[in-house]
Amino acid sequence: MAARRNDLGPNEGLIGKADARRRLTTPALVLDLDRFEANLATMARLAKESGQALRPHAKSHKCSAIAKAQIAAGAVGVCCASIREAEAMVAAGVTGVLITSPVIGQAKIGRLAALASAAPGLMVVADNPRNVTEIDAAIGAAGAHLKMLVDVDPGMGRTGVIGSQSALALARDIGRAGNLGFAGLQAYSGMVQHIENYAARRETYGPHLDGLKQTRDALAEAGLAPGIMTGGGTGSHHIDREMRTLTELQVGSYAFMDVQYNVVEILPDAPLPFETALTVRCSVVSNNIEGFVTIDGGLKCFATDGPVPAVASGAPPGAVYTFMGDEHGRITFAKPGEHLEIGAALELITPHCDPTVNLHDFIHCVRGDALAGIWPVDARGVL
Ligand SMILES: Cc1ncc(COP(=O)(O)O)c(C=O)c1O
Repeated sequence: MAARRNDLGPNEGLIGKADARRRLTTPALVLDLDRFEANLATMARLAKESGQALRPHAKSHKCSAIAKAQIAAGAVGVCCASIREAEAMVAAGVTGVLITSPVIGQAKIGRLAALASAAPGLMVVADNPRNVTEIDAAIGAAGAHLKMLVDVDPGMGRTGVIGSQSALALARDIGRAGNLGFAGLQAYSGMVQHIENYAARRETYGPHLDGLKQTRDALAEAGLAPGIMTGGGTGSHHIDREMRTLTELQVGSYAFMDVQYNVVEILPDAPLPFETALTVRCSVVSNNIEGFVTIDGGLKCFATDGPVPAVASGAPPGAVYTFMGDEHGRITFAKPGEHLEIGAALELITPHCDPTVNLHDFIHCVRGDALAGIWPVDARGVL
């Protein structure tokens, strides 16, 4: 029988069942709601204490239900990395959306204009005068208005204008455009987020924030004081809270955590402030050779840009994961004689949460062993 469109997948019938976690059809992305909610509450408290707004990045979860949970916990909205993500969020009723990558080309700019008409608070970044002109024209043709931020490159070489004078020139272009409003600056230092040692991270990041302050002051002197200063991530959030250069934080991974972040000294000389809330539940599919078993999670189940998944539960201590192709992974035991039966389930911590979530259709929300709900990854995909 063909699956219904927009259904919640093969585990839908387990919602509300007390022992559902053990019965999940795998490989299944699993979110521990107690840990997830604790992460949301912690970050909301920290941002409130430092007087900064929270606009978490939806690129990590691509899920409007999670965006709504973040807003319910105090966020002013969410960031989106693409027009695709922004469309999904707006369609689900999420407000306060900021698109943090340049939107280029007539087709996507047309979608941006349609979205701006549907979502009056929408914001987008730009780093190029031609792009500003093209977006202004499309927004005008749609009879809409759009708030725009200048994306400033803190030294990453990904996107953003280089230097205060270019930022000022682009802010002026935006200010002069009839259908746009200059809303502020964005600067995201992606390359510092995973520097494992806190002091080393701070040393690298400090000059980025100093440069951003200079740009802010140059704009203010020219009468274009940026209302919003947005950026930062999970790895930099403590430094961002201390420096207060940013008025709002774009943290993403804090909601889930992953193998990459679990080795980062996020706070100086203190335990991690966030718990690992996201795992992938897999099952043993073959166990014919002594010393290891094969499970149903491979390259199509876990991101491969970083470390390998880490075993969280279901295997003897010291068992390690290796990729074994598109559909499979190997769990190698630490000691001779260790064994797992066919169908035995394991949970693995995602190597890098963002690209892992994008491989899955559903997030299975658990409390203990019960399945509390299933959230579609409704913004997944890249187009
Ligand atoms: C522009 C931007 N802002 C914020 C984030 C969130 O960073 P993190 O997941 O480290 O919290 C990202 C992540 O890649 C990003 O690209």
